[in-house]
Amino acid sequence: MTDMDGRFLGLLLASRYAVALTGAGISVESGIPDFRSDDGVWAKFDPYEYGHIDSFRADPGKVWKLLLEMRTLVESASPNQAHYALGELERRGVLKAIITQNVDGLHQKGGASNVIEFHGSFRTMHCESCRKSYASSEVSLAKLPPRCRCGGPIRPDVVLFGEGIPDDAYSRAFEAASRCDLMIVAGTSASVAPASDLPMVAKRAGASIVEINPNASDLSPELCDLRIIETAGEAFTHIMKVFSSIHTEVKN
Ligand code: APR
Repeated sequence: MTDMDGRFLGLLLASRYAVALTGAGISVESGIPDFRSDDGVWAKFDPYEYGHIDSFRADPGKVWKLLLEMRTLVESASPNQAHYALGELERRGVLKAIITQNVDGLHQKGGASNVIEFHGSFRTMHCESCRKSYASSEVSLAKLPPRCRCGGPIRPDVVLFGEGIPDDAYSRAFEAASRCDLMIVAGTSASVAPASDLPMVAKRAGASIVEINPNASDLSPELCDLRIIETAGEAFTHIMKVFSSIHTEVKN
């Protein structure tokens, strides 16, 4: 365990209301590429052409090429040590919420239940024309784009560029950020608003901010009380080994 991990452990043990903000980096060790790294999704697909609502409206079949690739990866991926650690911290009552920008459902598969999906998920879909909702399992992807009975193109309930954050996720996330005394920011470049505003909201409310990222992000270094320059899998593996034994002792 490094010195940084030790300081993280101290903050975790002292916290009363810890919240995590996660991004694509937390799922990289599960085999899902992030967006902005050299081998990330946006190196292969232009974000405007494949990730914007206007592009979907103009050519849904084209945008579905990216959506299908993402969905296929997400379906076969399993949680890694970081997802399991956050699930365990929630179970122990230390972590109160996970705000994730990811649409892969891996936090839930890793045992967490209070997951705020800020950018939606692949579990459900809707028709872009008549807004009818669908469970993803009932939508055939044999022909793209899938079509609603009304003829409109069906799309997953993920937030595309140019769209707002779902109301419920937005209010729950900002409420959690303004309540927490510790925010763990893991695996995000913190470059996309409004998710990138959440650490500032937490900081202003008095929380400590711990960033876990092997690379530099857009999160201002002055905002961070601690920066752990490791992958999320490494950092959480290190701290959970010690945390589990100390937390049991504290509880006894
Ligand atoms: N552990 C922790 N962090 C990692 C790891 C890892 N194993 N691997 C990469 N990272 C870091 C990268 O250094 C980078 O800072 O994760 C971050 C990923 O950043 P992005 O690719 O920008 O992903 P994210 O922050 O989730 O993007 C936000 O942008 O395109 C949209 O809607 C998409 O939700 C996404 C949003």
